[in-house]
Amino acid sequence: MKPITIVTMLAFVSSPALAQSQPWLDTSKSPEERAKAAVAAMTIDEKLTLIFGFTDADDLAKQADDIVPAAVKAVVKANQVPGSSGFVPAIPRLKIPAQAQTDASLGVRVEGMQRTALPSSLATAASFDPTVPEAGGRMIASEARLTGFNTFLAGGANLAREPRSGRNFEYVGEDPWLAGKMAAGLINGIQSQHMVSTLKHFAVNDQESQRHSLDVTISPEAMHQSDLLAFEFAYEQSSPGSVMCSYNLINGRWGCENEYLLQKTLKQDWGYKGYVMADWGAVHSTADAANYGLDQFTGFPCCGDRKPWFAPKVFKAAIDKGEISMTRLDDMATRILWPLFSTGAFDDPAKAGPIDFRSNAAVAQKAAEDSLVLLKNDGNLLPLVGVKSVAMIGGHADKGVLAGGGSSAVMPVGGNPVPEADPKVWPDPVIYMPSSPMAALKTELPKAKVSYSSGNDIAAAVALAKSSDVAIVFVTQFMGEGMDSTLELKGDQDALVAAVAAANPKTIVVIESGGAILMPWKDSVPAILEAFYPGIRGGHAIARILSGKVNPSGHLPISFPASDAHLAHADIPGFDQPDGKAVHVTYDEGATIGYKWYDVKGFKPLFAFGHGLSYTTFAVSDTKATVDNGALSVGATLRNTGKVPGKGVVQIYVAPDDYKAAGWEAPKRLVAFHKDLVAPGSAAAAFAQKVDPRLLATYEVADNSWRVKAGTYHVLFGQASDDLPISVDITLPDMIWSAVHN
Ligand code: BGC
Repeated sequence: MKPITIVTMLAFVSSPALAQSQPWLDTSKSPEERAKAAVAAMTIDEKLTLIFGFTDADDLAKQADDIVPAAVKAVVKANQVPGSSGFVPAIPRLKIPAQAQTDASLGVRVEGMQRTALPSSLATAASFDPTVPEAGGRMIASEARLTGFNTFLAGGANLAREPRSGRNFEYVGEDPWLAGKMAAGLINGIQSQHMVSTLKHFAVNDQESQRHSLDVTISPEAMHQSDLLAFEFAYEQSSPGSVMCSYNLINGRWGCENEYLLQKTLKQDWGYKGYVMADWGAVHSTADAANYGLDQFTGFPCCGDRKPWFAPKVFKAAIDKGEISMTRLDDMATRILWPLFSTGAFDDPAKAGPIDFRSNAAVAQKAAEDSLVLLKNDGNLLPLVGVKSVAMIGGHADKGVLAGGGSSAVMPVGGNPVPEADPKVWPDPVIYMPSSPMAALKTELPKAKVSYSSGNDIAAAVALAKSSDVAIVFVTQFMGEGMDSTLELKGDQDALVAAVAAANPKTIVVIESGGAILMPWKDSVPAILEAFYPGIRGGHAIARILSGKVNPSGHLPISFPASDAHLAHADIPGFDQPDGKAVHVTYDEGATIGYKWYDVKGFKPLFAFGHGLSYTTFAVSDTKATVDNGALSVGATLRNTGKVPGKGVVQIYVAPDDYKAAGWEAPKRLVAFHKDLVAPGSAAAAFAQKVDPRLLATYEVADNSWRVKAGTYHVLFGQASDDLPISVDITLPDMIWSAVHN
């Protein structure tokens, strides 16, 4: 907290007269009381100010004055951080601050500004340690505040239902429990810095192709047991100030006027007190949107012909016609103010100032070091010890590491070292982080000769590989917002790996990808490291893992399918076609996503959910599973049975004796995980966790309840979804409880 802010804050509360006339300044009142008191003092125009947000001031200047008055345009121009995503003007008369909104989950993204980029959210989900995204959230929020923002458009939590979705890298994997905990970690970190965070994109926004026109059909049962469950866990564990509704239609209704999702589920059943903000250009009506749950139209003007549905003139007309009540407008305004009070953003305003980029880069590097996943390491080829020469090939590994594209793409401190990679088409820019794996590996292995070949000339790469002790091939897969991809690597990358592997049996592949890829060369290379998009110090993290300075400890938050033929959907509707086609997808697989799908179908994945190797070995022991009055508790101890210190992850799944009889979508579900740093030859402290009962239940739409069917269930302990050697049987009683939160 800045000293100047403390003075301001104390000034608010130290004057009893002021606190009486403006009770929302009284910090002894609850956030709800303060929000209600402020709204009670507002004119209708002030309330309308809160519900309509803007994007770029210059685009705004071109709008008609009766839609956005000249005075408002001037306020936006004077106060918005130029190049930032969104801005809602202040109400100075009542000391209500402006809402300065910045993208996104990986760091502060402002056009023309350089900031610190975390590894992709999918990467940090691989840490299986919520304190990793939490530390990242604290860091990016501190940068955001020092850039003048108080609202972060972060917290992506859509499940990786479609492995080819371009935004999987912004999300947190395929499992509701893991995704919920990791998204909550990030949001908690952000909001601990007195900033409002979103949780997005609500909900079932699981492909990017035709995202503005796609209609998704999915049953309520399946939704509650998959995508909504991830959001529900994230929401409960982090209390996000805002929830961003999604672009697509869900069961025939736009995400931002979807009564079932916004009104019934989020607000009524879950008791959400914050506000629903629209994704940019995702609003399609005035009265329907307001009455079915949208609280703030954000990002005007945007996205071509989107209309100003919540502009004061338009909204007032709907009130005058009786289509929207004043009570609803008050509710919208109260919800928007609530998180400003509950997070401390109101009492401790953001203020631009110098940023400690060096310390922040160290946070990003640690996040990568905790997250990169060693997929394969035959014959303990890694870590590289005593090697005299290393051939580094492809992926611009001499310059940096790849990042994902779109609204989460942070321009890194130090700039993009590969500007020529940018094809200048959305989701441009294609950004590389200025962290060269080659330079970093030279530092880690000072005695080795490290050489580079771009990989463009396969023969040259092969010659270099032949003359080196080991070869490291870097492969890249660019993914981004507004696009989906294929699982095959682009260009000649597969041929390059195969040729290098044939030339040098000690070939290591490092993958920089948005999500899963196919690996036709998997069996011909001894070692594979999945680096995802590893952030601003990603090259350093890769080098420290390759050299053994850091023991890898990431585990896959998604399954890697072995073949396109194993996907739930052969095609993505509208893939690779111009935007605007009205397309439809039915999620017949329901909640059977990722490892659940492969289990049901009997497909063996290329690499299973939860898989991840270490330079040491672990054993899970002292396993416990007890049921007390229907409530399941689990626990275990992790032992390091190898020779070096390392972090291991205990994973606990539950499998009904007969999953179909239990009504489950799949044979097993992840119910708990726990990561520990353990010294060789020792054991970590025993841990115990209560299992959330929804992870054992089915959602019953008829009476809006959760239900567990009595029977025998196996509690499975291990270190990956395909490595669960210990099973403890439990008996659960019949249980049923309301899906409405207390
Ligand atoms: C994205 C959101 C983002 C918003 C503002 C949209 O295109 O879907 O995630 O927060 O733009 O930039």
